[in-house]
Amino acid sequence: MAYRSMRRPRNAKMSERAAPKQVFIGTYGCQMNVYDSERMRDVLAPLGYAMVGEPDNADLVILNTCHIREKATEKVYSEIGRLRAHKDRRAGEGKGMTIAIAGCVAQAEGEEIMRRAPEVDLVVGPQAYHKLPELIARAARKSGERLAANFSAQEKFDALPARAPDGVTAFLSIQEGCDKFCTFCVVPYTRGAEFSRPFAGVLAEARALADRGVREITLLGQNVNAYHGAGGLGFADLLERLARIEGIARLRYMTSHPAEMSDDLIALHGAEPKLMPYLHLPVQSGSDRILKAMNRKHDGAYYRDVVARLRAVRSDIALSTDFIVGFPGESEKDYGDSEQLAREVGFASAFSFKYSPRPGTPAALMRGQIDEAVKNERLARLQAVLGEQQRSFNDGQIGRILPVLVAGRGRAPGQKHGRSPYLQAVHFESGAVRNGEIVPVRIIGASQNSLTGSTAALEVA
Ligand code: SAH
Ligand code: SF4
Ligand code: F3S
Repeated sequence: MAYRSMRRPRNAKMSERAAPKQVFIGTYGCQMNVYDSERMRDVLAPLGYAMVGEPDNADLVILNTCHIREKATEKVYSEIGRLRAHKDRRAGEGKGMTIAIAGCVAQAEGEEIMRRAPEVDLVVGPQAYHKLPELIARAARKSGERLAANFSAQEKFDALPARAPDGVTAFLSIQEGCDKFCTFCVVPYTRGAEFSRPFAGVLAEARALADRGVREITLLGQNVNAYHGAGGLGFADLLERLARIEGIARLRYMTSHPAEMSDDLIALHGAEPKLMPYLHLPVQSGSDRILKAMNRKHDGAYYRDVVARLRAVRSDIALSTDFIVGFPGESEKDYGDSEQLAREVGFASAFSFKYSPRPGTPAALMRGQIDEAVKNERLARLQAVLGEQQRSFNDGQIGRILPVLVAGRGRAPGQKHGRSPYLQAVHFESGAVRNGEIVPVRIIGASQNSLTGSTAALEVA
């Protein structure tokens, strides 16, 4: 997975501050990391750090890492190797480069990183980003201190500064950690126990985002629908409150666990128009035997039932999912059950992965580990099915008029880009429409990953 770099926040007034320093933040992994990287940028802006798109000449480089599969972790070490060359070159020019490793690899292997990679100045776990200024100052004094997990998630949320969103859509992290312990997964070890932020903090952050022009909020959590507030209030209650905020036109959430799709949450999908008709609901496998070995706490019939109940209240809801192929003990029949489930449900989009044994997880020690060649072959077959489903879902939009949230300029002059209710990117010809407006767009073309169209009003004129 290539890293994503970020733009500067609109309200960072660098000119008013001390001599600008350059920070590069490379983000790997899931949306939680994307959110955390934005928050790190917000913490660093008052110190005079301006975001840059390349690490080569940065004063500070932060790699916000992912531990989920072996490849993701390997990437961190190879990226550190690349940074070493830049650090050496800058040292030759009499300039410094502070290298910080953040995120889930920092949390899981912080000590090993410090041992294996002396060019790394500091390691910081996901709960400690509000301590970054202090850590950077200490690293500058060469005390080379490591700091990782020893803070609570609440402390982090309380200490972080106000948000500086740079668009009309924003992530809002409401829940961290996971207690589900799927046997293949490192997240319960890297992100710790499940923690839900109190209602008040979430609502205040959402209102502040709305005040700064955000129209669409995606609530984030590793198990976002396991969110619980005080006094028995649950995730559906939170969504209802958020829907009442003026200015917020669209709500989404990810990632949800099928076992946490409560009756009131499903009902809300039928009752709350601000809740978008798109849901990422990872299933992992279609085989009950494998789902049990994965400790997923649901079987295939339960998953199908959740989908049927969602479609009963919101017939156009589009579903996305995650599959793992080649879990230990997966037979050809088990694999076939995954393909069958995909064909029955019909996903608008999906991610599929080869099982990757992770240190410290139960599945890594299970008998029946699957050959790489078999994993490759099953992945290719499943991806062919899922790719076809995604194409046909997008093709199915041609001729429809979709309400599109305008997010920015398009690829060509006079073009805009935006988001459909089903989370598709839409590039369209338009007249004078402003970012943040929701406009009717007639869809005229579709590809695997995006739609094209033109504003319906223009067509009539
Ligand atoms: N909290 C979410 C997602 C967690 S990680 C959930 O419960 O669904 C995102 C995806 O990575 C998972 O859904 C799973 O499909 C995949 N994944 C996690 N661990 C993996 C492993 N060891 N090997 C391969 N894929 C893995
Ligand atoms: Fe990992 Fe399972 Fe928790 Fe998702 S629910 S984060 S897959 S342990
Ligand atoms: Fe990766 Fe950590 Fe997210 S392991 S998937 S960055 S929670």
